[in-house]
Amino acid sequence: MRILVTGGAGFLGSNMADRLAAAGREVAVLDNYATGRRDAPSPSERIQVVDGSVVDKACVDALFDSFRPTHVLHAAAAYKDPDDWGEDVLSNVLGTVNVIRASQRHEVERFVYFQTALSYGAARQVPIPVDHPLHPLTSYSISKCGGERYLAMSGLNYVNLRLANVYGPRSYTGPMPAFYKRLKGGQPCLIVRTRRDFLEFDDFMRLMEMLLPSEAPGGDFNVSSGEDCTIEDVYRLTVKILGVTPADEPKIVDPLEDDLNSLLLDPSKVQEVFGWKPEVDLEAGMRKLIAWYEENGVGETFTHLRAAKD
Ligand SMILES: NC(=O)c1ccc[n+]([C@@H]2O[C@H](COP(=O)([O-])OP(=O)(O)OC[C@H]3O[C@@H](n4cnc5c(N)ncnc54)[C@H](O)[C@@H]3O)[C@@H](O)[C@H]2O)c1
Repeated sequence: MRILVTGGAGFLGSNMADRLAAAGREVAVLDNYATGRRDAPSPSERIQVVDGSVVDKACVDALFDSFRPTHVLHAAAAYKDPDDWGEDVLSNVLGTVNVIRASQRHEVERFVYFQTALSYGAARQVPIPVDHPLHPLTSYSISKCGGERYLAMSGLNYVNLRLANVYGPRSYTGPMPAFYKRLKGGQPCLIVRTRRDFLEFDDFMRLMEMLLPSEAPGGDFNVSSGEDCTIEDVYRLTVKILGVTPADEPKIVDPLEDDLNSLLLDPSKVQEVFGWKPEVDLEAGMRKLIAWYEENGVGETFTHLRAAKD
């Protein structure tokens, strides 16, 4: 397998690149560092890193021609500014189209897309089944749906993972790094009154290994733990694991119109088809994550939510 990871300096992309290279696969990473880090993935003879954008068709085509990927993990996505619709459309729709077109030209054996569960919008049914209609409400999720729909009509052998919140080493988005950073700095925290479904990276990667072979089943799958918790639970666990006594009580706010009260996915299809089940519970996963932050620190964090930007 020769695996191209777009967005490979980001959280999911760099962890996948590290694991795939460690397992002996040749990996190429393409990233424009919008939210990625220069120190990711870890240096490896098996990983070549290209600084460039999926929006740049010439750059994408040249990388495909030189690296000749058999597999593509398309993890590049823009989301950090909810008002920058143009950037979201460019990276998430046009960029995805460029990667799909090059994959068709090179007869890529397997294409993996990482969709956000936010694309379901306010769900009519909870837990949300994978055949639930999509109703994206934000620039990020609307543009991610554009990419997903182009992939669906591409004729490629693809798997589309609608992801809950995956977390692990190099998680720099969402409540976990934000609470860690603020509690360590003695700052008060803001909690949005919502529920989320968290999946630890090791569980996610076990599934990735199962679905990477071209003969594995394809199509759309919800990928999640199947159990949700409140963001306040995440805060309380962070306090407990750090063993701190915050000076200020956290401020708890209702979600704004760009956020969803609940995002509990039904992962039964992926569990049945792949015989996969998450094994890391939230407290154990957060202990691992916080140990990683203690060793490596947390730099700049990103969010697509307005409420969490203050
Ligand atoms: N982590 C999750 O829980 C989660 C949940 C749902 C969906 N996803 C999807 O998974 C993928 C990876 O997300 P992540 O959590 O690792 O976020 P991330 O921000 O860490 O990674 C995204 C990467 O894409 C890069 N990027 C952005 N625009 C680019 C462009 N035009 N060209 C090349 N690279 C570009 C960024 O610099 C970054 O390194 C994304 O497609 C995201 O939509 C992630």
